[in-house]
Amino acid sequence: MDESAFFDILLRSWFALAVVMFVVLLLRPAPYGRHATSGWGPTLSARAGWLLMESPAPLLFLLWFLTGSQNGSDVLVVFLLMWQAHYVHRAFVYPFTLGRTARPIPVLVVLFGILFNVVNTYLNGRYLFTFTAGYGVEWLSGWRFVCGTLLFAAGYVLNRYSDMVLRRERIASGLRYCRVERGIFRHICCPNYLGEILIWIGWAIATWSLAGLSFAVWTAANLMPRAKAHLQWCREHFEDYPAGRSALIPGIW
Ligand SMILES: NC(=O)c1ccc[n+]([C@@H]2O[C@H](COP(=O)([O-])OP(=O)(O)OC[C@H]3O[C@@H](n4cnc5c(N)ncnc54)[C@H](OP(=O)(O)O)[C@@H]3O)[C@@H](O)[C@H]2O)c1
Repeated sequence: MDESAFFDILLRSWFALAVVMFVVLLLRPAPYGRHATSGWGPTLSARAGWLLMESPAPLLFLLWFLTGSQNGSDVLVVFLLMWQAHYVHRAFVYPFTLGRTARPIPVLVVLFGILFNVVNTYLNGRYLFTFTAGYGVEWLSGWRFVCGTLLFAAGYVLNRYSDMVLRRERIASGLRYCRVERGIFRHICCPNYLGEILIWIGWAIATWSLAGLSFAVWTAANLMPRAKAHLQWCREHFEDYPAGRSALIPGIW
């Protein structure tokens, strides 16, 4: 079997696995953060866990770029920079923003995170930098790239801003978990998750690729159930938490 046949089988299986994960995570949120429970084996500090989980994404994407047959095009350099703008921060900055109170993460969750990032980065990096027919410079002025990149940027700002608000509120309140009633948090429980989902929908549109779409589907399959679990947790732990507040999309989810 040649690599492109392997690639196609992996991509189809990856879409199918995302649907399975969505159902599994609706039944039981991943056991880290506020949903951490005992019985999941050894743990790592949140900082070490996030660093290990996320670092394959920026490192392997660079490897696929450097070893790709298509890496001469300007458009692909832009895609490289977009990916690294997210993942260099997520892997090498975000872990160091997590305070000492951040909960340890089970090694099992870290291993699953690493597996996710290795497969997801292979599918997106190998497709863009080797299997595509390439993107001409005119792609940069096309509606798919323009709309996709604007959505990516908007999601990026919403995600980073919301994670920063959570960090600042935790420090300011001195509480492990505090009720955040600022800005968009008054309308939805998990704006950081909404931002993340918008980032990868934007990426799927800008690259106009099935690999990019699989990333957007996986992010939604991962974060939509977790947002529901966060909302339920807030209703159980915060007095008078607004009954009408949604998890991600007002009135929908
Ligand atoms: N692409 C993907 O599929 C994917 C998957 C997972 C996560 N992510 C992204 O990774 C980032 C972190 O994810 P996460 O699941 O850890 O997000 P999270 O549950 O919202 O937590 C983010 C940080 O804020 C703290 N926190 C959350 N709610 C708080 C509150 N009410 N009061 C005080 N502190 C609070 C958490 O502490 P604790 O850890 O102690 O709860 C954690 O340190 C997010 O930006 C998310 O979008 C992406």
